[in-house]
Amino acid sequence: MNLFILTGAGVSAESGLGVFRGTGAALWKRYDPMQLATPEAFMRDPALVHEFYNARRRNLIAAASNAAHIALARLEAGLAQRGDSMTLVTQNIDDLHERAGSKRVIHMHGELLKARCASCGAVRDCREELSTDSRCGCDGALRPHVVWFGETPLYMEEIYAALERADRFVAIGTSGAVYPAAGFVREARARGLRCCEVNLEPSENAAQFDERRYGRASEIVPSWVEEILAR
Ligand code: APR
Repeated sequence: MNLFILTGAGVSAESGLGVFRGTGAALWKRYDPMQLATPEAFMRDPALVHEFYNARRRNLIAAASNAAHIALARLEAGLAQRGDSMTLVTQNIDDLHERAGSKRVIHMHGELLKARCASCGAVRDCREELSTDSRCGCDGALRPHVVWFGETPLYMEEIYAALERADRFVAIGTSGAVYPAAGFVREARARGLRCCEVNLEPSENAAQFDERRYGRASEIVPSWVEEILAR
């Protein structure tokens, strides 16, 4: 078995980090992403963008992984033990998969606990607040190491190579609204993979999945993991 797992904000929702879209409270209902999560927004008002990500970084540092993250870490270890494998790709910029014990996590939208120099591109760890005074060694301005709207996600070659090797695709806690991640299920189907969706509610591309399980990630993911490991 070679699983390809894509996670989104729904997997971290019960850790208190909030989601961007969906029927309940959502970040992009309260805030305009075009004012906060684009390169143009950062050029126009870097202090405002820093303030938004500083608040999210503070929340993340205070948060903890939940049962869904823990189950996925257990799945990685359990599959490895019996010679199977999985690739975990996340759209999340938090580190809750890692804190739960996942060894290999591909952060296609970057990482909140890292900063990147807007001039030389150097990436470094960042747990502190960033401001317009935050500078790289080369004197370039530091920005959050996150992929904004209009920017290309990271590790795409590696991700498509993993999709090619996979024999099963599972999307967990993602609305299916943001490409290219929202297009992975189509790629997977075209390759004949069985596709499963785990989410609180049907995603925008729910019809493309062979199997759908709806409910809270902290409940559905652990039971699904037990099923997979029992096979
Ligand atoms: N368990 C499972 N799913 C949940 C839960 C929960 N407890 N709570 C919410 N959800 C679902 C929502 O119903 C929604 O369908 O998780 C999904 C989260 O969707 P989004 O907020 O759109 O998150 P995501 O798909 O990861 O967003 C993609 O959009 O703005 C960007 O860069 C940001 O990476 C993000 C990208």
